[in-house]
Amino acid sequence: MSLPVHAVALIGAFTCLLNACTSNPPPTDADVIVIGSGIAGLSAALEANAHAANVLIIETASVAGGHAVKAGGFALVGTPLQERKGLKDTPNLAFDDLMTWGEDPDPDWVRLFVENSRSEIHDWLGGFGIRFTILLDTPEDTVPRFHFAGGAAVNVIVPMLREAVTRDNLEFIMNAEAVDLAMNETGRYNVRIRNTRSGVQRNYTAPAVIIATGGFQSNLDLVRQNFHPRDSEHGAAPERLLIGSGQYATGTGIRLGQAAGAQLIRMDRQVTFINGLPDPHDPQRGLHVENPAAIKINAKGNRFVNESAHSKTIESAVMRLDRRMHWLVFDDKGRKKLRIRGAVWLNRDTIVSEILDNPDSVHQANTITELATAAGLNADSLQATIDRYNRLVADGEDLDFARFGPLSGQTGSAVQPVTSPPFYAVRLLPMTRKSMGGLAIDMNTQVIGPGNQPIEGLFAAGEVTGVAGINGSHGGSGTFLAPSVLTGRIAGRNSAASARRAGTITAAFNHPDERPRITTDTESQARLMTSAELRSLLKHQRAGYWHWERSHAVVIERALACTDCHSPDWPTKPAITLRQQLLQLETCTQCH
Ligand SMILES: Cc1cc2nc3c(=O)[nH]c(=O)nc-3n(C[C@H](O)[C@H](O)[C@H](O)COP(=O)(O)OP(=O)(O)OC[C@H]3O[C@@H](n4cnc5c(N)ncnc54)[C@H](O)[C@@H]3O)c2cc1C
Ligand code: HEC
Ligand code: HEC
Repeated sequence: MSLPVHAVALIGAFTCLLNACTSNPPPTDADVIVIGSGIAGLSAALEANAHAANVLIIETASVAGGHAVKAGGFALVGTPLQERKGLKDTPNLAFDDLMTWGEDPDPDWVRLFVENSRSEIHDWLGGFGIRFTILLDTPEDTVPRFHFAGGAAVNVIVPMLREAVTRDNLEFIMNAEAVDLAMNETGRYNVRIRNTRSGVQRNYTAPAVIIATGGFQSNLDLVRQNFHPRDSEHGAAPERLLIGSGQYATGTGIRLGQAAGAQLIRMDRQVTFINGLPDPHDPQRGLHVENPAAIKINAKGNRFVNESAHSKTIESAVMRLDRRMHWLVFDDKGRKKLRIRGAVWLNRDTIVSEILDNPDSVHQANTITELATAAGLNADSLQATIDRYNRLVADGEDLDFARFGPLSGQTGSAVQPVTSPPFYAVRLLPMTRKSMGGLAIDMNTQVIGPGNQPIEGLFAAGEVTGVAGINGSHGGSGTFLAPSVLTGRIAGRNSAASARRAGTITAAFNHPDERPRITTDTESQARLMTSAELRSLLKHQRAGYWHWERSHAVVIERALACTDCHSPDWPTKPAITLRQQLLQLETCTQCH
């Protein structure tokens, strides 16, 4: 019996497991290679696979899903949910909203997006059992169109991953960072990967490659080099800028694309948030802090903006401030309203012990004067600002910034004065977030190369392209996740067509269910681990174990038993087989 190269590759990995790695490294051919397993890469892989391509997904992390695991909603137009709520949304309405809010988006991509979001995104995801059930209103949309699948986007990612691991001819290579991309003598692409745990390098080849590595917002050098003067009165990037994006959003795909001749576009369009608090565990990174009960204060101790205005207004007001930093000031009643986004911060006790009661993060005092001194603010002006604010709240009208009162359409009664000690001040800094530029692509998502010509066999999707310029200069709500699916699917089907032209698409084949589905570092596959061993391993960091260490620190913090997630079917070792993968996927929503 002759097996397709791909099946041999997998069996090769398996024998390696049983025979302590005596076999040769497995062959590594595919029709389409997708670099990155975020929502764009997953959409691309599923779509290419549906078009009969043998697909390999290369992922640097030990878990798939990318940013979407931490993200929220999707911009979708003309959905059943909108209809059920009696809302009439149309592509024309959405087109106008996006063009106005973004100011200079790519009109062709906006048009394609608004006309196809229902069929290409909503209905397609529905095929994997994903249901959008919550709709939020946002300032930029004339009709609410910010859709959520029950809760966060992890509810979209897990069903997509379940589908992907179940598909034949679609394989994940985990802990594999793509480090080089080049055309070889036979006209195929070589994607060189480095195993993040063992350091071993290996080549994978295919006639078509999709770069879906996400944005570059965790690469501060790249962010600074491309900071647009529009984003600040001072021209340059803020002196202190925290990292507010994912662990692996370092722009490696941009470098890979450039090595293959790609052009870049709109690199200076970046979403910078203004509410970052240095993470006590890693002060370079920012936590996303919100407190609707607080007032916002500048370095002079004055209010400077309507705290309830939409993000675009607040962001540009903060970006005009000295050093682009501001303070949230609130009282004891407002203390419980402080929120931090992210898996680790769902537990209120953690916010209290690590942030609210941590003097490095939050200043706390019994009088405004003491608070001002602790926070380095002018005591007289802070006192005057708070006295005036409290008076305006009592009178029911914010004469300074129209946060409440007749002009705002909101009454003062919902707004609390700042009167109950102790008082709190938190200094917030600007923080990187999302890329709205990157690899230039055409309407087929083919990467644009020298002479403005599309490069044969090379595609890109998702945030690495700046989601095709759909956001223009201002990020909208749900306009990253949704267009990542659309660009992913377009890249998927066009890459399959490209591989077909190159003559490599082979007939589908079937595997037994318990074959290895995921290739990870072979060395760690054989051992079982106990709680005691886990605790001692967590004492130091190992290369390639970032997610495992972070997630199992949460396991210990919450005093979970290993058997809450692991079982005889998936013991305390990497999930390799389909069954183990499906069991692992059941755990994601426990933390995300
Ligand atoms: C906290 C947060 C909240 C957000 N909320 C929303 C929201 O509500 N709505 C919305 O529309 N958008 C939101 N966004 C933005 C949105 O999540 C992202 O734009 C989107 O998920 C990007 O998807 P992607 O697949 O293009 O990239 P990513 O999700 O970044 O995936 C890229 C993948 O590629 C991998 N990778 C990177 N380099 C390499 C390499 N060299 N080799 C191999 N693998 C590599 C990464 O590990 C990652 O898994 C949010 C972002 C953040 C950070
Ligand atoms: C809440 C669910 C959950 C609990 C509880 C849990 N794990 Fe895990 N475990 C996971 C997930 C998810 C992964 C995959 C994480 C990754 O690869 O980044 C994993 C992977 C592992 C791995 C494979 C690491 C590798 O080499 O890639 C080991 C070993 C492991 N767990 C040990 C333990 C031990 C020991 C305990 C009990 C102390 C435990 N786990 C408790 C969810 C859990
Ligand atoms: C026991 C808790 C736990 C479980 C279970 C868990 N994670 Fe995580 N995960 C974390 C923590 C903690 C982080 C790091 C902090 C953060 O990003 O919120 C993280 C981060 C991530 C990131 C990286 C986001 C970034 O910043 O780049 C991805 C992707 C991810 N998880 C995917 C998964 C997937 C997929 C599963 C299910 C297979 C899973 N996680 C299960 C706790 C967990």
